[in-house]
Amino acid sequence: MSLEEALKLADEIVFEKTGQHLDDLQQAVLQGTLKRKRYRQIAEDFDYSESCIRGVGAELWKTLSEALGEKVTKPNFRSAIERWQNSNILNLAQDVVVSDSFNICEKERHSPDTPNSHQPNQQKSHPTQPATPHQYLDEMPELGDFYNRTTELETLTTWILQQHFRLIALTGIIGIGKTTLAVKLLHQIKDNFDYVVWRSLETSPTFAEFQADLLQFFSQSQQQNSLENTQKPLPLIKYLQQHRCLVILDDIHHLFSSGELAGKYKPGYEEYDCFFKQIEKLSHDSCLLLIGWEQPIKLAQLKSKKTPIPILQLTGLDIASATEILRDYGLTEIDNWEKLIHLYQGNPLWLKSMATQIQELGENLIELLPDDAILLPEDLKDTLQQQSDRLSETEKQILEL
Ligand SMILES: Nc1ncnc2c1ncn2[C@@H]1O[C@H](COP(=O)(O)OP(=O)(O)OP(=O)(O)O)[C@@H](O)[C@H]1O
Ligand SMILES: [Mg+2]
Repeated sequence: MSLEEALKLADEIVFEKTGQHLDDLQQAVLQGTLKRKRYRQIAEDFDYSESCIRGVGAELWKTLSEALGEKVTKPNFRSAIERWQNSNILNLAQDVVVSDSFNICEKERHSPDTPNSHQPNQQKSHPTQPATPHQYLDEMPELGDFYNRTTELETLTTWILQQHFRLIALTGIIGIGKTTLAVKLLHQIKDNFDYVVWRSLETSPTFAEFQADLLQFFSQSQQQNSLENTQKPLPLIKYLQQHRCLVILDDIHHLFSSGELAGKYKPGYEEYDCFFKQIEKLSHDSCLLLIGWEQPIKLAQLKSKKTPIPILQLTGLDIASATEILRDYGLTEIDNWEKLIHLYQGNPLWLKSMATQIQELGENLIELLPDDAILLPEDLKDTLQQQSDRLSETEKQILEL
């Protein structure tokens, strides 16, 4: 980016934020900064005191930091502004922030043709958009080692960013890697959104509790952007219509009854269905990704021939990635693992559990096992039991056939 381009962009950003263009002195400070001059040198060039120039600089960095959503300083001004240009999110559509006043400097030795148009700012409200999205991710697990899933990531990214599906489901058996895949996805695409939210429904919150929690997040985020915001929180769907949000709801099977047909809501939880329908039917740019062992039965009813609700059924990892997992667990005799990986269906959780057991009991244990015997560590038994307990009698009978 040339010096002129950087100055022009800085001027636009400051104008959006404060309602005032850069004055001559501010331009001089930015110009000197871009030419890697020290404050003292800039002060000498423009016949101001060094402290005055420093003060102007400090106010500029503050304003730019607020506008760009990252800490801007003299050393990183150029790179920050280039990042801003690349992220291409100079948005002129939101109400925002009242700016602080700049310093007013008196020239030490006044000369008529040196810059002195530096005026205090008027307080104004101006639109801006965060450089990074507002995030509510405290329930999102950290991403550990991650192998492959390239195709699945591409599919989900296309559905969300190119096809703009509003409601998407990610499903699969326990431990297959749904949560991990979604975490990776979120890291990759979050900058396309104003808000990114991750909630787990493991504690089975009622819809009222869930909505209140998200409303608090949205209204707090908005108050950060507006010092005088006294508005009452809107219904959740309104926030999703007003802003581009990515909301990931994990463990949604906790909304459904155990021992019933998969995806049947527990009594008192049907309100979620109404919310999911709103997400699907109303017009907005947000996306809700539902993750769980089961998906709501009624999701199928939302399908129409023209716009089916996309559901990604996750299957096991490929041999190469599954082998990597076993290698991470220090299993060295991995030439013969292909058969075992098939037996465990490439399920990363099951592979990890089996690898831990083998580490404890010794690698030659596998050779002692009869063909096709599955080593089922206790923790694995528990997790499989949890999932099988949820099946209805009919579903159990079908599985036994
Ligand atoms: N692509 C991957 N590469 C490496 N490890 C993975 C991958 N996917 C999942 N894992 C590991 O497998 C384990 C299970 O993954 P995860 O919790 O994402 O499964 P899940 O389908 O969400 O399970 P649940 O149904 O219990 O919620 C985790 O330890 C995770 O780190
Ligand atoms: Mg999970």
